[in-house]
Amino acid sequence: MEILTEQSLSLYERLGEAEGIRRLVEDIVEAHMNNPVIKARFLPYRDTPERMHHVKEMLVQFLCAGSGGMEKYTGRDMVETHKGMNISETEYIAAIDDIMKTLQKHNIDRDTQKDILFISYSLKNQIIRK
Ligand code: HEM
Repeated sequence: MEILTEQSLSLYERLGEAEGIRRLVEDIVEAHMNNPVIKARFLPYRDTPERMHHVKEMLVQFLCAGSGGMEKYTGRDMVETHKGMNISETEYIAAIDDIMKTLQKHNIDRDTQKDILFISYSLKNQIIRK
């Protein structure tokens, strides 16, 4: 999947390539840790730094590969990953709030924010209530 703007920059480029995406993932996960709606899902990872590191790596790969980068995604698919978590619609929106706030904090342009919002929305049926 590759979404281009008029200037023909790939979504990957507009997110700042692997380096920019890595910084985004750090802040998105930090926002989840502080979000009252979903923090309980993520706080346990503070006690297992290796697991935390792995999940962040998978998120970076997922975003890189999904936005047009050359990186391969080596993690599980979205249904498999979130199976048994029974994630609610409210929790899903809370996660998207964190993503959008982080994009704004990193001065990602509005069209790019829209692309990420569209992609996030389109994944909801693979993640909610599994
Ligand atoms: C746009 C929505 C989302 C995307 C793109 C996404 C993506 C991912 C990815 C790529 C992973 C790593 C997969 C792997 O380890 O193989 C992951 C793990 C995880 N996600 Fe999500 N996720 C989303 C929403 C959510 C929501 C709403 C929650 C809960 C509130 C959640 C909770 C988790 C947890 C707890 C893990 C770690 C699982 C583990 O330790 O094995 N995710 N997610």
